[in-house]
Amino acid sequence: MGNTFGQVFRVTTFGESHGPAVGVVIDGCPPRLPIVLAEIQTQLDRRKPGQSRLTTQRQESDQVEILSGVDQGLSTGTSLAMMIRNADARSKDYSEMRDKYRPSHADYSYQAKYGIRSVEGGGRASARETAARVAAGAVADQILRNAGIEVLAWVESVQDLRAEVNDETVTAEDIEANDVRCPDAAMAERMFERIDAVRKDGDSVGGVLRAIARGVPPHLGAPVFDKLEADLAKAMLSIPASKGFEVGSGFAGTTMLGSEHNDAFYADASGRIRTRSNHSGGIQGGISNGELITLRVAFKPTATILKEQETVTKDGKSTTIKGRGRHDPCVLPRAVPIVEAMFRLVLADHLLMHRAQVASI
Ligand SMILES: Cc1cc2nc3c(=O)[nH]c(=O)nc-3n(C[C@H](O)[C@H](O)[C@H](O)COP(=O)(O)O)c2cc1C
Repeated sequence: MGNTFGQVFRVTTFGESHGPAVGVVIDGCPPRLPIVLAEIQTQLDRRKPGQSRLTTQRQESDQVEILSGVDQGLSTGTSLAMMIRNADARSKDYSEMRDKYRPSHADYSYQAKYGIRSVEGGGRASARETAARVAAGAVADQILRNAGIEVLAWVESVQDLRAEVNDETVTAEDIEANDVRCPDAAMAERMFERIDAVRKDGDSVGGVLRAIARGVPPHLGAPVFDKLEADLAKAMLSIPASKGFEVGSGFAGTTMLGSEHNDAFYADASGRIRTRSNHSGGIQGGISNGELITLRVAFKPTATILKEQETVTKDGKSTTIKGRGRHDPCVLPRAVPIVEAMFRLVLADHLLMHRAQVASI
């Protein structure tokens, strides 16, 4: 249970951190969609380990293989399966973890629930699983691009270091311009130094990702349980190490007056209904209103650190543990393509749901 996401564009991921492979099966992909392997690979390369000294040094080429559902570069409408083989698995780094639980990782809770777990690399809880989501997100992107929708995410803050970025003008190139994936170049440098200093000290840090979607028409979403922001929240909070989600003004809106917070409507020169401000983050009543969709996702400091910490053994004896193996001192730079992928999966799913129910619009 819990391995499938989406209703029409339905993705099921499989695989563990140190197993033979991770992968995804997409059911419900529309037929005759161009599936360009190089574009899927580009997204995977943004997520893969070993990109800079700020990321885990595990060496994985993350080459994607398409196993089914594509013929002569086009989707066939049948189940589309993709696989990424694991190459650099080092089980010896994890021998201590068989008996000891890493603080704030998934070791104890998986063991408590199932009475068994894949220990090496955190098994299914490892961010390695998100490679499969990124591959699926690249397919969803094809659907969105055909509909004129663009999704971007970037690092907005690392601890107290916060970038100022213009949602309206930021580009994918600005985001990829540095290893941190923060489009504010001066702040990116300070963030790099902070993460690097923390890494040298064997510790970790967290921060906030900003994500936006442009060109979303005013009709994606559904009432009550399948509100667009509810599905986005689930998508984002399903990413390992995510701890918070905001849409639009989010928690900051709680300090404003209604008269300040309301997004006044007007009709622009072409007669299109717009809002003067966008505290709603482009979603009202669970349905997109045609403005920019704006989100924030909070990520905690990486659980595994190279410092001695208090824990217990499987049989409850108190002990200490010091992280070994290769870990990200800050997950944010690699989380950018994952947040984009989950955003795209939700929007593609809602686009296809809209077409299924309200096809003529
Ligand atoms: C891109 C990315 C990389 C990550 N790398 C690590 C890592 O190297 N070490 C680690 O302990 N956790 C890492 N995590 C987070 C763990 O997978 C996560 O904290 C763990 O599964 C427990 O889940 P929770 O934090 O959501 O409760 C990473 C997360 C992401 C998104």
